[in-house]
Amino acid sequence: MRVLVIGSGAREHALVLALSKDPSVVALACAPGNAGIAGAAEIRGVDVADAAAVVALAVDWAADLVVIGPETPLVAGAADAVRAAGIACFGPSAAAARIEGSKAFAKDVMAAAGVPTASSEVVDNPARLDAALNHFGPTWVVKDDGLAAGKGVVVTADRAVARAHAMTLLDNGHPVLLESFLDGPEVSLFCLVDGSSVVPLLPAQDFKRVGDGDTGPNTGGMGAYAPLPWASPDLVDTIVTTCVQPVVDELARRGTPFTGLLYAGLALTSSSGPQVIEFNCRFGDPETQSVLSLLRTPLSTVLLAASTGTLAALPPLDWSPDYAVTVVVAAEGYPNRPRTGDVIGGSEAEGVLHAGTRRREDGAIVSTGGRVLSVVGTGESLALARDDAYRKIAAIHLTGSHHRTDIALKAANGAITP
Ligand code: AMP
Ligand code: GLY
Repeated sequence: MRVLVIGSGAREHALVLALSKDPSVVALACAPGNAGIAGAAEIRGVDVADAAAVVALAVDWAADLVVIGPETPLVAGAADAVRAAGIACFGPSAAAARIEGSKAFAKDVMAAAGVPTASSEVVDNPARLDAALNHFGPTWVVKDDGLAAGKGVVVTADRAVARAHAMTLLDNGHPVLLESFLDGPEVSLFCLVDGSSVVPLLPAQDFKRVGDGDTGPNTGGMGAYAPLPWASPDLVDTIVTTCVQPVVDELARRGTPFTGLLYAGLALTSSSGPQVIEFNCRFGDPETQSVLSLLRTPLSTVLLAASTGTLAALPPLDWSPDYAVTVVVAAEGYPNRPRTGDVIGGSEAEGVLHAGTRRREDGAIVSTGGRVLSVVGTGESLALARDDAYRKIAAIHLTGSHHRTDIALKAANGAITP
């Protein structure tokens, strides 16, 4: 099978690495990729936001399967275009990708499907903002009703901060979603979906705030681990039954079945169990780096089954019994104004996945973005997986870079109770 992966982050590097170890993958390409991915796949150029360019590349390269990593091409209809060209595609149609592309649409689908989620209100008129803020908080949750790469959300006990964020969004022409605050530990559950069947992957937890102790602004994700030693054995089944399958059924009922990876982000609330924070229409970053490092089933088989409506015939997934911890190395200034162009030392080691990197003409690998590397450690316990990840990080050099030192720490110490 010839597999083309679209995207350029550490998530795509994880996908490419898993596919490169898969005996049924005879050729592997990634577009636009990065310096690390170039070690495992042929690199092609593409504008990921241009669905026509994605399909032209898939045809030109004679792909048998296209795997679309990021949400932008999915929301732009790249998966529809690839399928229309007669090529199997792992990724939802633009219509189904709205589950991530519009938070208001997601709320509507969840309400119709009876899925537990935070109550919410959309505000598109500044004159209505204060009245709406009165219906919530403290704590206030203020979101951008559109794609915001995890950075459009402010969670705050300070009404003035909530109001200011909402006004900034409104001033830029973005409708605002206000939500009730959900307490409890968060879980990311990735599910393979083929339009009707759902196969969950290992549950994971990610760390969205930039600083240790969950301080500072939200980011695209600063680390993740899988599986969750503190989770009850029936957690995954409960989430699939109460949250994921109903949404898959509702999208199918609407004539827009979901094919690809449906990512449920949930809070395990103390009062009412799992509640959905958001659905995403693609693999999460950095959870994927942890989850895929533990998957033993050849990845192409799994992605192809989801893409061709045959998940029900897929044998149970085979997982390593280990734990995996991913720590993101971010550029100085991330998530605000990341500094780029610095030479990175030690980035070609095992377990180091690339996100914002490129190879300079002189051969050096330099930073090109906010999240630069994802470093994945594994071990028989979370503590050992953490040790492995942080030992690998110690061998990496990037001027001004920062990373969280507490990824999976509470879970490793047994300090999380659902
Ligand atoms: P989102 O972009 O919707 O994934 O939100 C980013 C992060 O904001 C989530 O991972 C949560 O940590 C936090 N968050 C979002 N919505 C809520 C909510 N209703 N209650 C509590 N925290 C939330
Ligand atoms: N891990 C968060 C995201 O991918 O949106």
